[in-house]
Amino acid sequence: MQLTDVAGQFKAGQPDVFPAVILNNKSLTTVEQCEQWIVQNQAELEKQLSQSGAILFRGFPVGSAEAFDTFKASFGNPNFFYKDSLSNAVRINFTERVFTANEAPKDVEIYLQNEMAQTPNYPDKIFFFCLNPADQGGASPILRCDLLFNALLEKNPELAKAFSEKGVKYTTQMPGEDNRESGQGHSWKSTLSIETVEQAEEKLARLSYSWEWQRDGSLKATTGKLPAVRTLDCGRQVFFNQIIAAYMGWSGVREHHQDTLRFGDDSEIPKAWLEEIAELSEDYVYDVPWQAGDVAMVNNNLAMHGRRPYGGESKRQVLVALGAAKANIQG
Ligand SMILES: [Fe+2]
Repeated sequence: MQLTDVAGQFKAGQPDVFPAVILNNKSLTTVEQCEQWIVQNQAELEKQLSQSGAILFRGFPVGSAEAFDTFKASFGNPNFFYKDSLSNAVRINFTERVFTANEAPKDVEIYLQNEMAQTPNYPDKIFFFCLNPADQGGASPILRCDLLFNALLEKNPELAKAFSEKGVKYTTQMPGEDNRESGQGHSWKSTLSIETVEQAEEKLARLSYSWEWQRDGSLKATTGKLPAVRTLDCGRQVFFNQIIAAYMGWSGVREHHQDTLRFGDDSEIPKAWLEEIAELSEDYVYDVPWQAGDVAMVNNNLAMHGRRPYGGESKRQVLVALGAAKANIQG
């Protein structure tokens, strides 16, 4: 198998080219061979993932949601089921652990984020699989969170220090009913995987949220203080959060960001800082140019991801499966 360079990857210093790209040299022709190859090479692949932040597998015999499910399962990591998350993005399950990346309309950009970093439960790994690419656009931008943090530290040390020390709190509105037209349209019952008001309150309290029920039946929930910057085991400091996605993409947040995003001590985040972060992030993005059959494995601790808008007739289908360290799963 060939570890190769594709033009435009970020070379943050060998060997952590971002993303690493592995091309199947046609020696693997069945899903079963793929499974065997992953098991034999897992230690090396995991090492590559922790150094680089993302691996793009191209030319592997993965042609369906079921084959992708097997590919993912070959890594043997604990599963992180979407139903266990506290994300309110609308998704559709294909198999128990494979679901659509996001059902938001195609002209909507999904901005950069660490998966589920706006909640206390987040996966360690994200596996993306391109069943069918878009005719135009639809790439998945990915970004190395340590490179972004270092750039912030250099450009605006006060900003970097404030986010490191204070952390961040997110406030979300969960509608009373599911709304498929919105990228964030899950109701509070679906988001929290519960049925009653009492169960919702019990779960939120256990996860250190505060909340207010709204007259229209929706639920406004605010997280406890969550990290905005983390130090990984390898020592790298990472800008780890959903600040860009929330500020740029969640409805109305750019206009009234203080209702949704605050520092962990409830103080206001300067709007100019949020603009600065969003702008700077674009300098560090690599757009994964999807081809049918591609699988990308992303280290959620070290890399953010998003989705570019897309157009054309054919239906873009990028599927997702999540993997987690057990310690991260609560609630
Ligand atoms: Fe995501």
